[in-house]
Amino acid sequence: MTTIFSGIKPTGHLTLGNYLGAVSRWVSTDQHRADALFSVVDLHALTVEHDPARVRRLSRGTATLLLAAGLDPDVCTLFVQSHVDEHARLSYLLECVATDGELRRMIQYREKSARARETGEGVRFSLLSYPALMAADILAYRTDEVPVGEDQRQHVELTRDLAVRFNQRYGQTFTVPRAVAPRVAARVMDLQDSTAKMGKSHADGAGIIYLLDELDTVRKKIMRAVTDSGRDVVHDRAARPGVANLLDILSACGGGDDPVALAASYDSYGALKRDTADAVIEVLRPLQKRHAALAADPAEVDRVLRAGAERARSLARPVVDAAYAAIGLLPAA
Ligand code: TYM
Repeated sequence: MTTIFSGIKPTGHLTLGNYLGAVSRWVSTDQHRADALFSVVDLHALTVEHDPARVRRLSRGTATLLLAAGLDPDVCTLFVQSHVDEHARLSYLLECVATDGELRRMIQYREKSARARETGEGVRFSLLSYPALMAADILAYRTDEVPVGEDQRQHVELTRDLAVRFNQRYGQTFTVPRAVAPRVAARVMDLQDSTAKMGKSHADGAGIIYLLDELDTVRKKIMRAVTDSGRDVVHDRAARPGVANLLDILSACGGGDDPVALAASYDSYGALKRDTADAVIEVLRPLQKRHAALAADPAEVDRVLRAGAERARSLARPVVDAAYAAIGLLPAA
């Protein structure tokens, strides 16, 4: 059976980008067609300046939202990364396989370290080693497929390189995984700045749709989205990134019509924005309703996470033990 693993960092409130780039497919197809594991990867939230209480709160909050979005604990495994020691155990071995050069080449490291330097915050060493931990998340389950948005593709490519290198040096241990990005909306852009990804850690929320935004606010944000000069509606990501972004969102929320073909049915930006707002709101309304019910019962969410961690541990343990033995560590007697 195919194994799928993916993760999400509790560094902010989930956005429409997270939903369309990753979560919606976890829910609609991945969990039903494979042995699927999804993790709130809290250790990854410590790589930049963080508030401990907020990370704790967002970890449970993220799990609650994933359940509200439709992850079904009867068919998939949902857990918090730090509840399963195997991730950190394996990460160190992969740091011993990765090179300093390849980690420094990661786009996210370059961007985030530049930002941290600018603000005088200091660059945490874990920001550099982050992809080794992400590779451990994936390889510990002998994962075949990693459903992610476009921005994570480079990290999954590195994971593949590390798996191949480890297997060549120390014997066949890991499955070599592949990234799977959605056809449409693999990179949802900020509604106020079409050159920037819609990201949950950004400070200014005007261009970001959060899954728990009031529905009126969602409509306002979309109606105020920056479109491009020009008037006709065409899907041209280079020349009209704002309009292309709206068409992608409409396509992904409205049942998957090809965004290029969709463009032909509009002759004004206003109508496109109205339909996009309607489609997004129809996706968010039921999710928010389920969220309200689940958030009232945190003990149930904790129960799901406990059971998920137990299952994840039982899968990861033998794989990580095998990696320890292969790389030359003496098994504990
Ligand atoms: P994170 O938490 O930034 O994002 C979670 C998922 O959402 C996708 N995504 C987007 N997709 C489309 N448009 C956007 N604007 C957008 N913003 C985010 C991301 O591509 C991702 O799929 N390093 C990972 C978390 C991680 C992980 C893993 C993922 C840790 N270990 C193992 C897969 C497998 C991250 O920071 O995702």
